[in-house]
Amino acid sequence: MIRCADLNDVDAITAIEKRVFRHPWSKNQIVQELEQENGKKVFAEFEEKMISYIMISYIMIRVVNNEAQILNIAVDLPYQHRGYGKKLLQYTLSELGTETDVFLEVRESNLPAIKLYSEFNFEEIGVREHYYSDGEDAIIMHKKQ
Ligand SMILES: CC(C)(COP(=O)(O)OP(=O)(O)OC[C@H]1O[C@@H](n2cnc3c(N)ncnc32)[C@H](O)[C@@H]1OP(=O)(O)O)[C@@H](O)C(=O)NCCC(=O)NCCS
Repeated sequence: MIRCADLNDVDAITAIEKRVFRHPWSKNQIVQELEQENGKKVFAEFEEKMISYIMISYIMIRVVNNEAQILNIAVDLPYQHRGYGKKLLQYTLSELGTETDVFLEVRESNLPAIKLYSEFNFEEIGVREHYYSDGEDAIIMHKKQ
């Protein structure tokens, strides 16, 4: 099940963020993302386990007019490479519609993510040198219409 995330989901997102990234967003940054209504969206994917739902993955995007930026996407560690990321990205792109231009930045070493984006027709359009705090370059990708 995929739905928009809200403030009740902060702890689940923060926990996945910490497990998945070397430089995780802080809880405050995630709260800010969820609180802002103008153009910011967070979708989260859940699976039913026993009697409740657990969060599997989430994606954060910012939309201004016809332009969207994917800020972050993460699938929790035990569920990676099992199709969840693909499903969430597919859902997000169809929510954005074909009129929206979609951009993102990704670490040049993050081959699984680059492969995923390429499968959805994203192509490299540039590089931001030393974009990340540890000095790594970011690849800028744009989804071909
Ligand atoms: C990148 C990420 C979102 C992909 O989600 P996922 O659920 O693991 O990926 P899926 O199972 O949906 O696979 C989709 C495609 O991604 C690529 N992929 C995913 N994991 C991969 C891996 N370990 N190695 C190589 N390619 C991989 C493949 O192209 C795969 O397609 P295929 O199964 O046909 O080969 C997820 O692995 C993740 O959260 N990674 C850590 C956080 C991160 O790097 N986020 C991106 C920040 S820009």
